[in-house]
Amino acid sequence: MLDKRSARRIALLLRLQIAWFSYNRDVRYVTCCEQWCVMALLGVNIDHTATVRQARRTDEPDPVWAAVEAELGGADGITFHLREDRRHINDRDARILRETVAVKLNMEMAIADEIVDIAVDLKPDQCSLVPERREELTTEGGLDVVRHRARIAKAVARLRDAGITLSAFIEPISEQIEASAQVGFQAVELWTGGYAHAKTPQERDDAIDELRKGIETGHGVGLEVLGGHGLTYRNIAPVAGLPGFSEFNIGHSIVSRAIFVGMREAVREMKRLLTLHAPAR
Ligand code: PXP
Repeated sequence: MLDKRSARRIALLLRLQIAWFSYNRDVRYVTCCEQWCVMALLGVNIDHTATVRQARRTDEPDPVWAAVEAELGGADGITFHLREDRRHINDRDARILRETVAVKLNMEMAIADEIVDIAVDLKPDQCSLVPERREELTTEGGLDVVRHRARIAKAVARLRDAGITLSAFIEPISEQIEASAQVGFQAVELWTGGYAHAKTPQERDDAIDELRKGIETGHGVGLEVLGGHGLTYRNIAPVAGLPGFSEFNIGHSIVSRAIFVGMREAVREMKRLLTLHAPAR
C-alpha cells in the first residue's frame, strides 16, 4: 500500500505530465496544482454515430464500434438513448451494446411501457429516465418528477426490481431533486443545458450557482449527482470544477470532434480536460 505522501507525489507527477501533454497538444484549458483532485467519470453518449448511419439508413458508422473506440479512449461509461421513434439507436444496437460494452452501460429512456419492458429484459447497469417528445431535436430540459410522480414511481419500481440503478434526468430544482429521492431513484443527472445555453456571463454564473445548489440538495437527500447536456470542450471547465459531480454524460461534442480526430482521441481529450479541471478535495 502506498502511504499518503507518496500517493500525493505520484498524483502530482501525473497531473504535471497530463498538463504538459495537453499544453503541447494545444488543449485550451491547462491548470496544474499540487492537490488531490476528485475527477468525475465520463459517460460517452454514442447516439449521434447512429444519427449519421440513419441519415442513409445503411450500416455505417456502427454505434457499437463507436462504443469500443470510446472505451479504448478511456470512457468510463457508454450511454445510449433508445427512443420510441428509434430515430438513431435501434433494438439491434441496444442488444449488441449490452453484450459488448465492458464499462458501465447507461440506457436513456422515456417511461413508455414498451421501452420499460425492453430495459427490464436488457438489464443495462443504469437507466436514466428522460422526457421525450417526438418533435424535439434532442432531449430538451428535464423530467418533471413532481408532476408525473405516480407513473414514474411505477417504472422506477419495475426497473429497480430488475436490478438496474435508476437515475432521473432533471433540472437543478430542489423540489425535483427531493421528489426523485422519494420515488426511489438512486441518482439524478442534473440538466446542464441552462449553463450551456447561457447568453451572458451573469446567466452563466447563475446557472453554475443553481448546479452547485442542486449538487448539495442531491447529496443531502442521499443521491449520487451526475451532469449532462450541452457540455463541450470549450465550456466544460467551470462545470468540471464544481465539487460533487460524480459523472458527466457527453455526446454531441465528442462525436463531433471524433469526426476529425477519431473517437479514441476525442474521448482522451475530454478525459484530459476533466482531469485538469477536477475540483481539489
Ligand atoms: N444526458 C442526457 C440525459 C441526455 O439526454 C443527453 C442528450 O442525449 C446527454 C446527456 C448528452 O447531451 P449532449 O449530446 O448535448 O452532450
